[in-house]
Amino acid sequence: MLTSKIFCGILFFMNTNKNTDNEMMNTQVKKVDAMHPDMDIMREAGEIIRQGGLVGFPTETVYGLGADALLPEGAKRIYAAKGRPSDNPLIVHIADFEALKKITSYIPPQAKALADAFWPGPLTMIFQKSDAVPYETTGGLDTVAVRMPSHPTALALIREGGGYIAAPSANTSGRPSPTLAEHVYEDLKGKIPMILDGGAVGIGIESTIIDLSEEIPMILRPGYITKEMLSEVIGEVKDDPGFASADPNVHPKAPGMKYRHYAPSADYTIYKGDEVKVAEKIIELANEKADEGKITGIITADQHLHMYQGRLNNRIKVVSLGDLEKPETVANHLFKALRDFDKVDTEFIFGEAFSEKNVGQAIMNRLTKAAGYNIIDV
Ligand code: TXA
Ligand code: MG
Repeated sequence: MLTSKIFCGILFFMNTNKNTDNEMMNTQVKKVDAMHPDMDIMREAGEIIRQGGLVGFPTETVYGLGADALLPEGAKRIYAAKGRPSDNPLIVHIADFEALKKITSYIPPQAKALADAFWPGPLTMIFQKSDAVPYETTGGLDTVAVRMPSHPTALALIREGGGYIAAPSANTSGRPSPTLAEHVYEDLKGKIPMILDGGAVGIGIESTIIDLSEEIPMILRPGYITKEMLSEVIGEVKDDPGFASADPNVHPKAPGMKYRHYAPSADYTIYKGDEVKVAEKIIELANEKADEGKITGIITADQHLHMYQGRLNNRIKVVSLGDLEKPETVANHLFKALRDFDKVDTEFIFGEAFSEKNVGQAIMNRLTKAAGYNIIDV
């Protein structure tokens, strides 16, 4: 009797000690100097990756959730931690152009030209994959998305982790992408062993994705590298009609673009049109909701703040995304603003539309998805 109790105890002990993925783990947050990360920490993080584990890390676009791209269990852990559908492929991050050869079966000349112009940096290219890349990483596709980030911490992690890191944005599937290590912690605490905290990211929206296999190269996701910038290097470039469409029957070529994304928990509507009329409409509707006792927010820009001053129920949270003359400031604040609205349990957000010129296309793509295509012409 006693021996069987001891035996059961030992079995129980062994069982709880087995590192199953469902178990909550302790998530260490390690501060690193973004530009010159401590190499002891980077080796430790690289070791986790080599063992098939996950590390949250900064890139110049958004924080990524990294795993070894060549290990099927790495990708599986990413899908589990994010709650991401496994048919949504991952981007493989590399640290030098040579690394492309092992994971692709063909490198078109345009890819070399684009890499010379934009790598390391916020551009992802789609290639035919080689057998080295497991289907778990590519969501079952024969193509692989590849990017060489410019962030020194990301590059160090790739090198220490074996050269190939699959990394989606490090948010729970559907939530706004993380631009601070705190955002990663919020979403993935207890699910991953380590987050590298390199402070705020520089760009704030995800990389541009381009597919060179089409006769005219096609943008699958707009980003910081604009169509104009790409065209200067490789000539004509078109948009995938699927990424901007609200119609569920129009399928975007990047599987991830079909999912509801970036959504704050509030009911978020974007108002488009003459800027004065838009502000008047937003003032009217936001006051109405706030007067009913609803937690209400407004999304605007520096140049428009004055239109709201003294005209609002003082419980309304007004957030400027940045300077309209410098749209990169708007890109940089967008995801954090959406998360901050969630933090105070905002129920209604009334937002201005932004210009779709240049990087504005990527900004409006993210905001439109966050608003669930809820756009009203004023
Ligand atoms: O800036 C970025 O790209 C960030 C950082 C971490 O590098 N990563 C990122 O990954 O945004 P994620 O997983 O959130 O978005 C990847 C997008 C998804 O829409 C996915 O469907 C698409 O890339 N994608 C990946 N592989 C693809 C492929 N082979 N063909 C078409 N689309 C692909
Ligand atoms: Mg993402």
